[in-house]
Formats: sequence, C-alpha cells, structure tokens
Amino acid sequence: MTRSVPPLGPSPDELAAAFARLVETALERAERGGEAPVIRQADPETLAALAAPPPAAGRALDEALARLDAALSSGMNTDHPRFFAFIPSPASPLSWLGELAASIHNQHLGAARQSEGATAIERGLIRWLAGEAGMPEGAGGLFVSGGSIANLTALTAARDQMLVEDERAQGTAYVTAETHASVAKALRIIGLTDRQIRVAPVDGERRMDVAGLARVIAEDRAAGLKPFVVAATAGTTNTGAIDPLPEIADLCEREGLWMHVDGAYGASALLSPAHRDLLEGVGRADSLSWDAHKWLFQTYGCGVALLRDASLLAPSFSLSADYLRDGDAVGADPNFWDLGPELTRSARAVRLWLTLQAMGRDGMAAAIAHGFALAEATERAVRETPDWLVASPARMAITAFRYVPEGLATDTADAINAAAARRLMEEGYAAVGATRLDGRVALRVCAINPRATETDMRETIRRLDGIARDLRGAV
Ligand SMILES: Cc1ncc(COP(=O)(O)O)c(C=O)c1O
Repeated sequence: MTRSVPPLGPSPDELAAAFARLVETALERAERGGEAPVIRQADPETLAALAAPPPAAGRALDEALARLDAALSSGMNTDHPRFFAFIPSPASPLSWLGELAASIHNQHLGAARQSEGATAIERGLIRWLAGEAGMPEGAGGLFVSGGSIANLTALTAARDQMLVEDERAQGTAYVTAETHASVAKALRIIGLTDRQIRVAPVDGERRMDVAGLARVIAEDRAAGLKPFVVAATAGTTNTGAIDPLPEIADLCEREGLWMHVDGAYGASALLSPAHRDLLEGVGRADSLSWDAHKWLFQTYGCGVALLRDASLLAPSFSLSADYLRDGDAVGADPNFWDLGPELTRSARAVRLWLTLQAMGRDGMAAAIAHGFALAEATERAVRETPDWLVASPARMAITAFRYVPEGLATDTADAINAAAARRLMEEGYAAVGATRLDGRVALRVCAINPRATETDMRETIRRLDGIARDLRGAV
C-alpha cells in the first residue's frame, strides 16, 4: 500500500519563487529607506481580515504572502533611518540573513549534542563579548530574547547566590528612578515585593548617587533587611546616563553585594574603541545584560546575559529528566538548557556571528560610533535654533530637548512639545520620542541608525521647530 504523506509545504519551485519575492521586496524597501514614512497605519478592515481564523483549504502562497507583507509593513518602522523614538532597531540585512539561516536549519540550542556548530558559535561569542566587557577568564552566560530576560536571568542567579531561602522575604535590591522598568519587573517575578525594591537617589546627571545609595543600604540593614544586589545601568533609556560603575563596584565589594549592570542599551559602546572607556568598571560586575537587537544592529529577539562566573547560572537553572539524557553535556561545558529559563532555544547568536563575520570588528565599531556623532549633531542643531533648549546633552547617542519660547506657560509648552512629536511622526518624516525630564515634556532622540545622516538630524530639528511655531501660533 502506498501512503500519501500530507505535505508541510508547497513545491520546491513555488517555495523558491516565494523566497525570491520576499528578498526582492525587502531589498527594494531597504533601498527606498528614508523615502518611506516612519509610520504606516493599517485600516481596521485589513486588521480584522488578518485576525480571521485560517481557511479550511489552503490559499495560494502568493496571495498569503502578499497579505503578510501588507500586514508586516504597518505600524512604526523602527529601522527607518529617521526613527529616533524609543530604542530604534536598525537591523542589518546581515542579521536577516543569519536569522533566516538559523531558522532554516532550525537547530536546538538547548544541548550541545543537538547543535555542535551553533553551540560553538554561541559559546565563542559569549567568550568574546565577556572579554570585551573586561570580565575575567571563567565568565560566561547565554543568549536570550532580549534585555528583559537577560535582567531576569542575571537577577535570578543573584538572588540564589546571595540569599538563603529563609532570607528571601528580607532581601532588598537597589535601582534608581532611571533604571529600566524591566529590572523591577524581573525582581517582582523572582519574588520581591515593591517594598523590597529600593530606589537610590541620582545626581544632577541622572546617575546613581553612590553616597546616597550607601545611606539607603545602611538604613535597610539597620531595619533588619538583607541588601543583596545593586542594579546599575550603563546607558539609561531616557538620557543615556551611565551610573558610576567603578564606585558602585567598590561599594558592592565593601558591602558584599552582587553588582548587576543593565547594559541592554549601552554595553555596545564597548565595541567602539573611541567610546569603550565610558563604561570603565563594567568588567567588575557580577552580571551584565547586553542587547544585540539594539545597538548591534540585530533583528528582535537577540540579547545576552553575561556572568562574571559562568558556574553561577547552573545552580538556579539546571534541570534533569530521564527523557533528556540523550542530550547530556559534552565535555566540561554545561548545556545551555542548564543555564537559563528555556529548554528549547533557537540559534539566536548565529545572526550576530554572521553580521560580525561580514562587517568585521572595525565595521561594527564604526557603525556604533556613528550614533555618538549623530546625537552630537542633533544637540548642536538644537543649540543653534532659537527658543529651543537642550534638556539632556548628547550621551551614548541620546539627546533630549524642548521648545521653550519666552512667555509660554509651562503646561502649554509641554502640550506643544508633545503635539509636535506626534505631528512629525504622523507626517511621516521622522519619529522622535516625547518623554518627561524633571517633570516636563522633553523630546528625545536616540540616534543609533547607521543609515541616518547629520543632514537628517538637522532637518528633523528644523521641521520640529516649524511645527512647534505653527502650534504656538494656533494657541
Ligand atoms: C536599559 C534597558 N534595559 C532593558 C531593556 C529591555 O530590553 P528588551 O526590550 O530587549 O527586553 C531596555 C529596552 O529598551 C533598555 O533600554
């Protein structure tokens, strides 16, 4: 009897044509780059059609792909050269290629036996990144989906290394008002209450105030609490501030605390020789989060958690089960599934590996350094524009500013700044963020896209100024 096996895909020819179309569309789009609007809204009917249940009988691949392309082209285009809001994601086409290759090979990165080559790639990159951070031999870690999970992974290890179970209810962690919200989220996930998440003061540059931190720690100890981790930031999301890492490392050493550094955004500066000194002291951290899908130009879903002592992950994350024995570790290095929350893991490091192979370390350094120059050009343009004020100078490719003409009430100025950012985005030219600094609305530019130019930055400020004046005229 012959069996007919239900196919999982179309014919090779159809598939080849579909891949070719996908690539052609992507390249066309990349080439047009800045001509397209930064945001494209889908109409409600299109969204409803996309959310409909799948058809019983499959439709033509061509048609499905066309729908998908329309769907994925809507929303904010975070890799547009002039998308400066949030943390943009200027993904390199090399990252697309690496992700596609990883997806086609679909290797399981839980156990080395299942994926020897991809495991070697991931281990090699981890060793290299830890070395660039100045961590000693014996450092390690794993690739995760992003900064939030890197923070969660590292802070879980911190909790388990620093507190015995009976102490958990008294354990306290230290952040600042500038710390990314994912740190507090991670701390809550690992069992801390809001009362156990302590906010240390910041200095005039929004960096952790170490003397203030020491005071909070002393008060907490006197109250019977158990300080166990300081979460510093290397490159805050709002203003690019870098906490004073050497002083924090000294304090952690003195106090016997785990030093975590959230470098999800800023750690990439380590790969630019001209800027790496900004992060002096990061190599003394017990753990470091570092996102590749931010300033290392990777597609979303690519970050890394690094630990100064690689052996400190397994006590929190190792697992054993009879059905996993065939995947037992090879040699001295543990399997990745024993180092983090996931069992099945995709080959996330492959895209970064391919990008670095093709760009080289120098190409990567130049692309990172470009962001610093763009933010500085933005700051200059703001300073040269009457009625605008720099709210936060260029730091780590981020700068913030506001429209503050004389005689305008604070609330009205806030409303005009926020509306100017909205209108600029709606017009499609560029996206800048509207944040709050010192209680007032400020416009924020995160300028990490290597395809953006200084002309783009100046023109963005010129247009914002035109919009703000227009809005003011209408008040
Ligand atoms: C400093 C910092 N930490 C953590 C995160 C969270 O990273 P992810 O969005 O990759 O989970 C971000 C995201 O912008 C960030 O800027």
